Amino acid sequence: MASNSFGTLFRITTWGESHGKAIGVVIDGCPAGLEVSEEDIQIELARRSPGKSIYTSPRKEEDKAEILSGVFDGKTTGAPISIVIFNKDFDSSKYEPIKHLLRPGHASYTYQEKYGLFDHRGGGRASARETACRVAAGAIAKKLLKHFGIEVVAFLSQVEKEIAEVEISNLSQIKESMLKSSIFCPDAKAEIAIMEKIASVKEEGDSLGGIVVFTSNLPLGLGDPIYEKLEAKLGAAMLSIPASKGFEIGSGFSSVFMKGSCHNDIFRHEEGRVVTKTNHAGGILAGISTGMPLIGRVVFKPTSSIKKPQETLNVNKEKELLTLPEGSRHDPCVAVRAVPVVEAMAALVLADAYLLNRNAKL
Ligand SMILES: Cc1cc2nc3c(=O)[nH]c(=O)nc-3n(C[C@H](O)[C@H](O)[C@H](O)COP(=O)(O)O)c2cc1C
Repeated sequence: MASNSFGTLFRITTWGESHGKAIGVVIDGCPAGLEVSEEDIQIELARRSPGKSIYTSPRKEEDKAEILSGVFDGKTTGAPISIVIFNKDFDSSKYEPIKHLLRPGHASYTYQEKYGLFDHRGGGRASARETACRVAAGAIAKKLLKHFGIEVVAFLSQVEKEIAEVEISNLSQIKESMLKSSIFCPDAKAEIAIMEKIASVKEEGDSLGGIVVFTSNLPLGLGDPIYEKLEAKLGAAMLSIPASKGFEIGSGFSSVFMKGSCHNDIFRHEEGRVVTKTNHAGGILAGISTGMPLIGRVVFKPTSSIKKPQETLNVNKEKELLTLPEGSRHDPCVAVRAVPVVEAMAALVLADAYLLNRNAKL
């Protein structure tokens, strides 16, 4: 399973299983001299943590990050940064009664067939618990970006037909509005409607999907053409998040309804710099950032773990009914907790692209 590393210059490797002793991440390639503390990581982990509201899973992971290496006197040394998070609030016995079942929408079938075994305890390596490591690494990527004046923000934009109305270019406003939201939705009206939908689907023992939007005030010139296009890297990052099922940049799939005369973003000279009248490109042209706001969207499927009984097969391929054991914990809408993960993955791609861009020309 040689697929646990991500990035080129700013490179992460995550390790660990959901119900193992610990999970962690090693970050290689972070420049020396960046101020980093465990508190910086803790703030981001707290945002991803479950157990905060009825809209997320009740697992009360403490997610306490410890930096083991690569930071001295509060600053990165340039050496690999290792972060460990010990697993605490888990009960593997809950999975015993269903360990022989292929769980619809889960990793059990493909892992079992491909590797010949599956860690049924919370999904093992396939568990979204791994995303805590991405968020920890993303905290450092975000600090590096901030040093260069770049911010990255993600928010919950849509659940079913409820859509948040958001002024995308105002990053600080989005951040501030989200502080008050337990579901990372910056539009109070949409937030209430979405919370009602999630509460009602939870009551039914079912789940919902959702769309997460991310944006950044990127400078011009990040990303490389051909195979390393910025949107290609962002797409790979976003589609690697568990339960993500689609990615768009700018107008994305709605471009099918536009003509060229509408989709083309017209250049203008404004206050000493080139901007575009519209931003259908989502801030990227030919794989390179234009200096207009970066705008991407990621869609998440409805959570696979649901209380409703489901017909399935056992490992011997015989029909059985899957009913989750009493007290099983899951998110009624994974898109909510995916928000900090999307933000982290965007930050990792952009930090890498920023460092790579320093080699672009003399
Ligand atoms: C933050 C986060 C939390 C998640 N929590 C759950 C969960 O509680 N229950 C569940 O069935 N899936 C959850 N998932 C999704 C599964 O991990 C994922 O659907 C599964 O591993 C199969 O992978 P795939 O959907 O990418 O094909 C979560 C995903 C994310 C990003």
